[in-house]
Amino acid sequence: MMTPVASQFPVCRPRRLRQSPALRALVRETRLSPEQLVLPLFSRPGKKLRHPVASMPGVFQLSPDEIVKEATTAFTAGVPAVLIFGIPETKDARASGAYAAKGIVQQTVRLLKKELPDLLVITDVCLCEYMSHGHCGIVEQHGHSARIANDPSLKLLARTAASHAEAGADIIAPSDMMDGRVRAIRSALDAGGFLETPILSYAAKFASGYYGPFRDAAESAPKFGDRRSYQMDAANPREALREVAQDIAEGADMVMVKPALAYLDILWQVKQQFGLPTAAYAVSGEYSMVKAAAANGWIDEKAVTLENLLALRRAGADILITYAAVDAARWLKGG
Ligand code: PBG
Ligand code: ZN
Repeated sequence: MMTPVASQFPVCRPRRLRQSPALRALVRETRLSPEQLVLPLFSRPGKKLRHPVASMPGVFQLSPDEIVKEATTAFTAGVPAVLIFGIPETKDARASGAYAAKGIVQQTVRLLKKELPDLLVITDVCLCEYMSHGHCGIVEQHGHSARIANDPSLKLLARTAASHAEAGADIIAPSDMMDGRVRAIRSALDAGGFLETPILSYAAKFASGYYGPFRDAAESAPKFGDRRSYQMDAANPREALREVAQDIAEGADMVMVKPALAYLDILWQVKQQFGLPTAAYAVSGEYSMVKAAAANGWIDEKAVTLENLLALRRAGADILITYAAVDAARWLKGG
């Protein structure tokens, strides 16, 4: 028998804890599990409609009946929540479709809560999908320039949120980035008797090139200009903390950082500083980049997807919103 050689570096042997899967799992600092995942879904009027989104392989615009099927698949895979976006039949300059009692989101939510009562239904509250011009608020002409009018937009956002709650939404998620919208929405929810409906605020939402594929999916690209007068400048971490503080003061129950992977510093600071349930939205461009590289055989889709989600957990995210939620849930369960 060989006598083991005494270690020259007795205190420096981190590999001791990496010897087996069980040991690695025992000392793992961060955990990723299906119950943290939220799947975004795009609903559009019709029946048996599954319209592929070209820039997002595996993502479809779905009619409400197909949304129920997709949500059932997700729920069965262990994903507890969906985030609903609507693509209305018609758009106008008042975003009427956003707060119509029988609007696409309202219909979809009613059907989902009837068919899958235990699934958490989160609704995205914004106006861009419903506006003919594609902006997240009301457009006002000032001479030759157009502005997004803040306060008049709040009324429409509040009405939209109340109509989602009326339809049965479990959580209201405003993504418009108008100032004061969390307060306006909280008041409208309370006035409507929805005191127990929580608000997940897109609190630090940056103007981002990563939203490109989403605008195809939701048919919500602005027809002129861009969103930089309301979404945040990517260079401003301190301003992000002020935005989050403001939304919490106005009544946000949970806060979101968006996009996710390029904003891990923001996510970390938001969680450290406020400690609220914090969501990270791995947006369309983040998803499509992984899909494109995987389709070319350049990366391992499963490994990279799970590694990216783990990074969000490490940075402090409690809630992970991702188009890859169903695959991720299956992979995490060993599928
Ligand atoms: C609209 C909205 C956008 C996203 C969520 N809500 C697009 C935008 O602001 O232009 C982006 C989501 C994604 O890219 O996956 N308010
Ligand atoms: Zn919008």
